[in-house]
Amino acid sequence: MKIFVDTANVEEIKKANALGVICGVTTNPSLIAKEGRDFKEVIKEITDIVDGPISGEVISMKSEEMVVEAREIAKIHKNMVVKIPMCEEGLKAVSILSKEGIKTNVTLIFSALQALLAARAGATYVSPFLGRLDDIGSDGIILIEDIVEIFSMHEIETEIISASVRNPIHVLECAKAGSDIATIPYGVIMQMIKHPLTDAGIEKFLKDYEGMKK
Ligand code: E4P
Repeated sequence: MKIFVDTANVEEIKKANALGVICGVTTNPSLIAKEGRDFKEVIKEITDIVDGPISGEVISMKSEEMVVEAREIAKIHKNMVVKIPMCEEGLKAVSILSKEGIKTNVTLIFSALQALLAARAGATYVSPFLGRLDDIGSDGIILIEDIVEIFSMHEIETEIISASVRNPIHVLECAKAGSDIATIPYGVIMQMIKHPLTDAGIEKFLKDYEGMKK
């Protein structure tokens, strides 16, 4: 499973990239708003840091407008992927954009049937939202497992980006379910690095070595 970082914060992206573990970035309008900066400016900076798929989302809700906005986003950099919300207008836009060779990531996927439709419309990626399902007492990982099974059974090439990942257990479950990618907040990547036995082990090795020198 590949790892993307789910943030629009340039400092976090630099730090995650320096670890050598990420190969893409996802943003959404809320994450961009949190930075309080111009969308294009932030996205351009991200493309200078990470050489991999960078998702930037449209805010239009009509397919014609989504297509115009998507073409502008795609022009920013060759690695741009246009995030389109899952809805009727979104599917129409994805169908047009895929024929133009513009990569799309259909977001806000909450059912396997939505994922199937997005894939059939020509989406490059689908983003099922794990954490938001868990939030309402529905098991998010079942959605990932269902999409993996359907895409594999029907030889669908659209890649699955497990999104709305909130903790290391989510990442583990996505990897076990066979998700192609998990897009993970920076804080969760840092949690994944840590283990108390690793910390204790490092401390003991250094202490023992220091003791030998006396
Ligand atoms: C990524 O593509 C999504 O926009 C993001 O993972 C949503 O996460 P949230 O449900 O924690 O806001």
